[in-house]
Amino acid sequence: MSVTDEVKQKIDIVEVVSQYTSLTKSGRTFRGLCPFHSEKHPSFFVYPEQQSWHCFGACNTGGDVFSFIMKKEGTTFGEALRLMAEKTGVSLPSRFESSAKRDEKERLYQINEATAQYFHDLLLSSKAGEKSRDYVTHRGLSLETIASFKLGYSPGSWEALQQHLMDIGDAKDELLAAGLIIEGEGGGTHDRFRNRLMFPVCDIRGHVTGFGARALDDSMPKYLNSPQTIVFDKSRNPYGINLAASAIRQQDVAVIVEGYMDVITAHQNGFNNVIASMGTSITEKQVSILKRLTPNIVLALDADAAGEEAMLRGIGYENILNAEVKVITLPQGKDPDDVIKEDAKTWQKLLGEALPIVDYTFNMVTSSLDLTTARDKTLAVGKLLPIIAEIKGTVRQAHYLQKLARLVNVTERHLEAELRRIKPSPSRRQNEEPKRESIAQTLRSLWSSPVEEYCLALLFQHPALKSLSQQPSPEYFQNSENRAIFSAWQQASDLSSLKDKLDPAIWGHLDYLLSYLKKRGVPTNQIEARYVNCVLRLREEFLRNLEVKRGAALALEAELGGTTAELAKLEEQGIEVSTQLGEVFSQKRGKSQGVEP
Ligand code: UTP
Ligand code: MN
Repeated sequence: MSVTDEVKQKIDIVEVVSQYTSLTKSGRTFRGLCPFHSEKHPSFFVYPEQQSWHCFGACNTGGDVFSFIMKKEGTTFGEALRLMAEKTGVSLPSRFESSAKRDEKERLYQINEATAQYFHDLLLSSKAGEKSRDYVTHRGLSLETIASFKLGYSPGSWEALQQHLMDIGDAKDELLAAGLIIEGEGGGTHDRFRNRLMFPVCDIRGHVTGFGARALDDSMPKYLNSPQTIVFDKSRNPYGINLAASAIRQQDVAVIVEGYMDVITAHQNGFNNVIASMGTSITEKQVSILKRLTPNIVLALDADAAGEEAMLRGIGYENILNAEVKVITLPQGKDPDDVIKEDAKTWQKLLGEALPIVDYTFNMVTSSLDLTTARDKTLAVGKLLPIIAEIKGTVRQAHYLQKLARLVNVTERHLEAELRRIKPSPSRRQNEEPKRESIAQTLRSLWSSPVEEYCLALLFQHPALKSLSQQPSPEYFQNSENRAIFSAWQQASDLSSLKDKLDPAIWGHLDYLLSYLKKRGVPTNQIEARYVNCVLRLREEFLRNLEVKRGAALALEAELGGTTAELAKLEEQGIEVSTQLGEVFSQKRGKSQGVEP
């Protein structure tokens, strides 16, 4: 699935539009005051089933979620896609970014890289770094480990880093953007990280995106992290992924721990498939990144309340990964760093004993209960049945239903009845693939329109078609990508300037269209006729679609007792649509020619 489709599948147009205008549900549609023009009577409709919108008022136009954002925020398709990707947590390949944004990111990577190198050198050899050298030795880190994780030392000074970076030519506002310096009240700036052990955080390609910084004593906070920047997002990128990726692929399993030191000690002991969530909760974004490497994950989190919470959410991640998530139970009060340092074999053994997360949750829930009492049986069922309800796969679900039935000693049939009554809670559902496959398929078939694509492909193969009088209007393209490409084409002088007019996010789709007809040539004497036919079909589809939407709006207006004027207006629009449809039909029969859309 393309990322564009992935975003479309995850986004809900009703939710997006609701942020701009308040919508009321009526039947299968939603309506509200049009966010594009001022009106007193709501003539703006949203159709969740088609994931589309239409304004029957002054705008008299519509489209999908991207065209909505493009119109509302005045953005290109690519910017709208990036906004929606952000919202849905879909990570876009960097080639989808605007070149200005890519340059900006590239600058921050360079600055972070220079920073990591500066701190690293200080840790290795400066006089000021002596205390930090003692610290890493005390924690058992080898020189090799220090080098491969590029650990560093930030000196106690308020401006050493700033000074150093500006000396090598970096600008102050870039250092601010990288989160390396902080602006004080009076407008002065100072280094963020002082007198700490520095952990550069890298993305999967090895770019330094930000830093974690540990105090060398008991001062608080223990760890200070880079703030969110355009390249650093703590909730997206697991720590150690750059060094762990190949081992994760090879071993086909990733082990997730909480802390920086846990990762480092694991790697030092040859457990190279270990990464950290950098805190207690694993995020959906992190899981999505891992999914590209392996579907198998093992969680090794502290056995405290926060860990429990994460584990409960972990069940939702199984549905993202389409695989069982496993859990290691750590000895009370110990983290992986402690365990591995004590004895690497214990860690190996714990990994071997990792439990499927559902079994783990069963243990956790029941360990504090007395399952001979009615009260505790009810508690156990109350906690575990909703989890069972979330399990995809009937066999696995049945397996755990049996297990629960045995535990509380009631019949399975009894629990089954209960299970049917349970709907997964909304917070849980967020972790699943948001739409079920059948719906996704229906939507996908709506998004890809062969006629739209054939029409564009013809245009690009035969630029002379542009001078024909029969042309589609951009609105005929329901798919925003096609629509954006067509609009750009209308303004472009030739094919080579078309790409420059388009956002990089759309280049992939353009390439697809350009190669569309390569394999199936069109006989020269049929090119024009096929194109005209395409335009007619697009127009017909557009008008029919409009008719369906208008019909829904009209029915609603009548039901809610709209004013005569409103009803008359919709009726009038209907007559207009019918007239135009009539034109299409007569053109199709070849009786009438040259009617402009
Ligand atoms: P821990 O408090 O368990 O620390 O936090 P740790 O990893 O065992 O560190 P050491 O062994 O004492 O050096 C786990 C993780 O939570 C994040 C860090 O990523 C840390 O590694 N954390 C913790 C913070 O971001 N800020 C904090 O103040 C504390
Ligand atoms: Mn620790």
